[in-house]
Amino acid sequence: MNIVLFGPPGAGKGTQAKKLAGHYKIPHISTGDILRANLREGTELGLAAKEYMDKGELVPDEVLIGIIKNRLAEPDCQVGFLLDGYPRTIPQADALSGILDEISKPLEVVLNIDVPDNELVIRLGGRRMCSCGASYHIKFNPPEMDGICDTCGGTLYQRDDDKDDAIRQRLKVYQEQTQPLIDYYNRMGILVTVDGTGDIDEVFADICDMLDK
Ligand code: AP5
Ligand code: MG
Ligand code: ZN
Repeated sequence: MNIVLFGPPGAGKGTQAKKLAGHYKIPHISTGDILRANLREGTELGLAAKEYMDKGELVPDEVLIGIIKNRLAEPDCQVGFLLDGYPRTIPQADALSGILDEISKPLEVVLNIDVPDNELVIRLGGRRMCSCGASYHIKFNPPEMDGICDTCGGTLYQRDDDKDDAIRQRLKVYQEQTQPLIDYYNRMGILVTVDGTGDIDEVFADICDMLDK
């Protein structure tokens, strides 16, 4: 299965992608996670990306296109892939088509998770992360012990771009630069929109129903 999980910041792309990757046994490729891992390791790429990410701006297209090209060439993508957070601009989408043509792996579906802005702000403001990759919400998906990861016992933290100013900027950038991709993939006939406002398991069940069709 070759899938793009699409949607605004806070729609639940990462949350659903983790569950889908386990269910369908395909790799979850999150460009945000790749950039944050680079930042933790202090690579040149990570340091360059940080100034854009903290402000809620997009990292330049050529950087992301290079990352995706390399990642899709890795052997685990033979069985398919689930992209999360890429593409985010028309040039990124055009580049993806070119890369997938070269490796003869056409995109099958772009799954658009639809959630209204007021709900996105609440989800992002209450999100807490763990360095192991687990993610929580203080109200909608709380850990068993306040501030502690259920999976690894690590201390939870808030993403730098989950502060008010950066959240507002990310939503604006989404509307201006990313939302046009809905029309782009609609014209290609591969866009499917799911209602992302139910709870995590309800949305997961809807997505699986849709993909199994
Ligand atoms: P990225 O990490 O991709 O962030 P994003 O797109 O802003 O999306 P989020 O990860 O914030 O939201 P999500 O949809 O994954 O929601 P989640 O599942 O966590 O990108 C970060 C930055 O990196 C960008 O701003 C940019 O600078 C750079 N970047 C990355 N890719 C790039 C690209 N291609 N080009 C250029 N720059 C790029 O859920 C959110 C919260 O809601 C959680 O707390 C969760 O528990 C909760 N939640 C989830 N589902 C539900 C539900 N159904 N009900 C209630 N709560 C829920
Ligand atoms: Mg995410
Ligand atoms: Zn953890």
